[in-house]
Amino acid sequence: MKAIVYQKFGTTEVLQATEQPVPAIKANQVLVKVKAFSINPMDWKIRKGEMTLMSGSKFPKYTGTDFAGIVEETGAAVTGLKKGDEVFGVVKNMMKEGVSAEYVAVTASLVWKKPSQISFAQAAAIPVVGTAAVTSLEKMGNINSETNILVNGATGGFGMFLLQLLKQRGANVTAVTSNKGTAFAKKWGANTVIDYTKENVLSNTATYDIVIDLSGKMGYKTAKSIMKAKALFLNPTPQPIEIPVSLFMNLFRSKKHVVILSAPSAKYTDILLEAIKKGLEIEVNKVFPFSQYKEAYQYAEQGGYIGKVVVELN
Ligand SMILES: NC(=O)c1ccc[n+]([C@@H]2O[C@H](COP(=O)([O-])OP(=O)(O)OC[C@H]3O[C@@H](n4cnc5c(N)ncnc54)[C@H](OP(=O)(O)O)[C@@H]3O)[C@@H](O)[C@H]2O)c1
Repeated sequence: MKAIVYQKFGTTEVLQATEQPVPAIKANQVLVKVKAFSINPMDWKIRKGEMTLMSGSKFPKYTGTDFAGIVEETGAAVTGLKKGDEVFGVVKNMMKEGVSAEYVAVTASLVWKKPSQISFAQAAAIPVVGTAAVTSLEKMGNINSETNILVNGATGGFGMFLLQLLKQRGANVTAVTSNKGTAFAKKWGANTVIDYTKENVLSNTATYDIVIDLSGKMGYKTAKSIMKAKALFLNPTPQPIEIPVSLFMNLFRSKKHVVILSAPSAKYTDILLEAIKKGLEIEVNKVFPFSQYKEAYQYAEQGGYIGKVVVELN
């Protein structure tokens, strides 16, 4: 089978399509014929060597985390899935495994049946960013129409899920996006939209109960000026040192810095599937064929698109 690997850290140029044996499955795994996988910022952060503390520096490395496809074979201990099922899922160890291949062997507890109303490309877009959005909601605690939430970087994959989940819970949301994203942010439920190319959210007089920065460019120190007393700053792109330091410093300050670390599971996927039933939309901005995997990663890394970028296989 064809699989994308890389032998050193670097740009998309290090990605190579290679011939590999179809993986053998363990008793608790399923073999999935991959129909689509989505691209996440984490893929290129790992590939560029920015996450070596967690990814290690051993090669070859595989890439891609969430996928959709058709079950080809099930391990002896697997129940609830059978050959031919249309599924989506995620690898267990995002730092070491990869799904950018014609077949993947994955833990059955991280594979779910694909709802019939969504495509393989849409399903492949769910696990990583959908789970991160639900985890963020958990960290927000009780929210209602009086809770003022700022979502900075609101129309990438993560923001797409978060805005719509917040709308389903009735929060008062301000979305910061580029001009391409303003119509989507409104459609997905933002009460107010700020185009960051025209207006600096930090110059406004408005303050928020919760600020979540999905752009990775704001940071807690900057956000403090637009946070109410006792507000939360949610950070899904922490530096490793910020994880313990924020916990410790929060003991002494009223404006809290909370790190988001998410891991897909059945619990989060059930919440996402329920939200999809209620009308949550999954926008796939562009689908690339497998043969154009380098172009797909280049396009995704450049940014400036709405929702998700997906690679499809036959
Ligand atoms: N901790 C976790 O568990 C976890 C899980 C999933 C994702 N993440 C991280 O969360 C972040 C968001 O994920 P994603 O998949 O949504 O990424 P994404 O699709 O790249 O979205 C990032 C968004 O930020 C916007 N942006 C860029 N510059 C901005 C600025 N100066 N001001 C405001 N917005 C700006 C981008 O808009 P334009 O492109 O239009 O500029 C884009 O919509 C990534 O860094 C990802 O690695 C963390």
